[in-house]
Amino acid sequence: MGRLDGKVAFVTGGARGQGLEAAKLFAREGARVVLGDLLDAEGKEAANAIGDEAHFVHLDVTNEEDWRTAISEAEQRFGDVTVLLNSAGILKFGTIAEQPLAEYMSVINVNQVGVFLGMRAVFEGMKRAGGGSIINISSVEGLRGSVGLAAYTASKFAVRGMTKVAAGEFGKYAIRVNSIHPGVIDTAMLRAQTGDIDLNAIFKRGVPLRRAGTPQDVANLALFLASDESSYCSGAEFVVDGGATSFVGWGGPVPRPD
Ligand SMILES: NC(=O)c1ccc[n+]([C@@H]2O[C@H](COP(=O)([O-])OP(=O)(O)OC[C@H]3O[C@@H](n4cnc5c(N)ncnc54)[C@H](O)[C@@H]3O)[C@@H](O)[C@H]2O)c1
Repeated sequence: MGRLDGKVAFVTGGARGQGLEAAKLFAREGARVVLGDLLDAEGKEAANAIGDEAHFVHLDVTNEEDWRTAISEAEQRFGDVTVLLNSAGILKFGTIAEQPLAEYMSVINVNQVGVFLGMRAVFEGMKRAGGGSIINISSVEGLRGSVGLAAYTASKFAVRGMTKVAAGEFGKYAIRVNSIHPGVIDTAMLRAQTGDIDLNAIFKRGVPLRRAGTPQDVANLALFLASDESSYCSGAEFVVDGGATSFVGWGGPVPRPD
């Protein structure tokens, strides 16, 4: 028996990275899964590789019409969506003094408005189904400020806040809403900034577990929140960062083993 038997999961940013890893795990645990992403070729290939229990739909999370079409396609294919994992996101470095407004707004639109639209889009279906679980991927940047990440930090704090509002508004329909706060996770998003360096060597000073995270680390937590095992969790923040934010920050005073 799978931990998500009978559930229909919609995963944004499902074509690669953390979204794809979670989609694969959800399917292995018995869910039927719809992957939504801008990356059509990668998304279709990923859904095909998962099998008949997966389907890809084109989705720009900033576009409300795209959301309507995508959720309606998911419902026709598999029935009401009962799990939403909002994983789509973009990262752009820029200081408050220098980041162009258009770039700031592009990050807000994808990371913040995208989550807002996603929660709206699945609400009626989850109500009809008698409940559901919404999981919003924020970040450790939704817990504390990071220099050079003005837009990203603002968007991820917004996701954390909106999650709590949604938990309050949707709770009477047995819809749970929680946020996940990953630390450094080795995906294309991070590699676009770091290149091919040894992440574990870089992050071992600021991360008590002395390594970068993997998409599997995050997927395992998303699985718990998607499943009925988290039946009394809502409006909560779940950190998956190797212990990094339990200290002052990256490179903070981590005790040395010797
Ligand atoms: N990688 C990290 O270190 C890290 C840390 C904390 C939080 N996060 C968050 O985790 C989430 C997943 O990121 P990832 O690490 O898997 O990166 P990724 O770049 O591998 O995946 C992001 C996915 O989102 C998709 N996407 C981007 N804009 C979109 C849009 N407008 N509509 C639909 N899809 C869109 C991309 O095509 C991509 O498939 C993001 O929300 C990110 O902010 C990442």
